[in-house]
Parts: sequence; structure tokens; C-alpha cells
Amino acid sequence: MSLSITPGTNNVGAYINSVDLKNLDQNQTIELKKTLNEFGVIFIKKQNLDPESYQNFAKNIGQPVVYPRLKGLDKKFPFINVIERKPSDKNLSFGSSWLHQDTSYLGDDRPRYTMLMGIEIPTGQGNTIFSSGFNAYEKLPEEIKNKIKDATGVFSSAGPIAVTRLEREKEMGIKSSESMEAEHPIVKTVDGKKTLYVSPGHLIKIKNVNDEDSTYLKDYLIDHVNKEEFIFSYEWSKGDVCLWDNLSILHMASEIKNCKRVMHRITIK
Ligand SMILES: [Fe+2]
Repeated sequence: MSLSITPGTNNVGAYINSVDLKNLDQNQTIELKKTLNEFGVIFIKKQNLDPESYQNFAKNIGQPVVYPRLKGLDKKFPFINVIERKPSDKNLSFGSSWLHQDTSYLGDDRPRYTMLMGIEIPTGQGNTIFSSGFNAYEKLPEEIKNKIKDATGVFSSAGPIAVTRLEREKEMGIKSSESMEAEHPIVKTVDGKKTLYVSPGHLIKIKNVNDEDSTYLKDYLIDHVNKEEFIFSYEWSKGDVCLWDNLSILHMASEIKNCKRVMHRITIK
């Protein structure tokens, strides 16, 4: 083992210590990916990567994809999206208020990983909140595990989180798109470990369960993944990189008021 790892609060994710993402050797890259799949999210402090190194690191993880709803950095770095929060912004920040798994409303070829790097970080606010689907699944009562073993979730881009998205699109002058919908099993397996895929911001219905259980299970699972014991609120420093697997980790932004925050985001298949 050449990487030093420290688990995050409540065993959500892992810090990878003393590593320089600009100069990873092949073994370190393999280990880093293994850690990412095992813990769901990795935190690498104070990297301050230039755009080229950041984009190259993403290419070591998988295939970066262009994310149409966000503004790109420039033509040279089409995969880097700039997420900027201005002091005057009054609406909820991008992705805030509902735990979710990015693009769960797309089919099986949807991107799997999301990565952020802190560019300009306000003091004392703007944390990213992560919840572990692995830990949440493990702690479910057996009775619920049985009920959901073959359950399918219906996920929609017009789900509860849509208010934020619509505001964002309006802000950027993008004409609001048709809503998108997809169905996925709500219990997933990553490297042999089961995890909950319930994306509360997009989940509109649970199918393949008894009719009378459907609404109950939806509410139950949404409450469950929001429990304090599965949550790690990550406080950013400038230059930090967070990379997560949307199959096993749920996330949301926390509230930001009257200050500026800039992040560089890359979405990876
Ligand atoms: Fe998100």
C-alpha cells in the first residue's frame, strides 16, 4: 500500500494524504481508484492544480464528459465547468437543498463520477454534504432490505431538486429543457458491496414493491439517507479536490450567503 488513507467523519469517504495528483505513478493511480470505489468519495487536500493537470487527472480516472448545463472554463478545457456563486446571488446554490446522485434521471450510460476543486473558498460556509449509500444500506433493518431487494426507482430531472435547476437555467439564459426520466434498481453493488441508490432530489416513485409499500418506502429511505450518522459535511480549503462515485455517495451543497465561491467541476464516465 503506497497511499496513506484516513477515513472521513462517520466513515464517509476517505482522505488520501500526502499525495500530489500531478505526479501519480501507475500503482498510485490504481490504488486511488480502488479507494474511490471502496469508500465512494475521496478528499485530497490542497492540490491547487492548474487546469491542464486537473483535466489530465480526470482522464486517469475515466472519460470526462461535457456537461451542457454549466459554463466551460474555455475552449482549451472543455471538460472543466466553472461553478460560481456571487455575493449578490439570492437563490439556492447549484445542487443545494436535496441530497442527490448526479444525473440519476439518465440511462445506464450516464456519467458515474463527479469531481470538484476549490478555487475561491469563503470562510466558514459553503461545505459540501456527503451521505454514504454503503453505510445507509448496511444499517437498514432486514425487513426493509427484503422489501427493496428488487425495487426500482423512477428518477426525474423534474423531481424535488428541479427548482434549483430551473433557476440556474434561467440565469444562464438556457431555454428550459424537457424533463428526463429513468428507472434504476435502488440497491446497487459496487465491488461486491451493496449501496442505496435513492437520489432524493430526483426520486419520484418506487416500483416493484407492494403498492401499499411504495410511498412508505420512498419516504422511509429518503429520511434514512439524511440521518446524521451517515453524513459528513466537508469543509473546503482552496485547492482541495473531492472526487465521488455517484453510485454510492449522495451529496448536496450547503447554504451560502453574501460571499463568493468558485469551484471547478469535472464530470467523468
Ligand atoms: Fe450535484
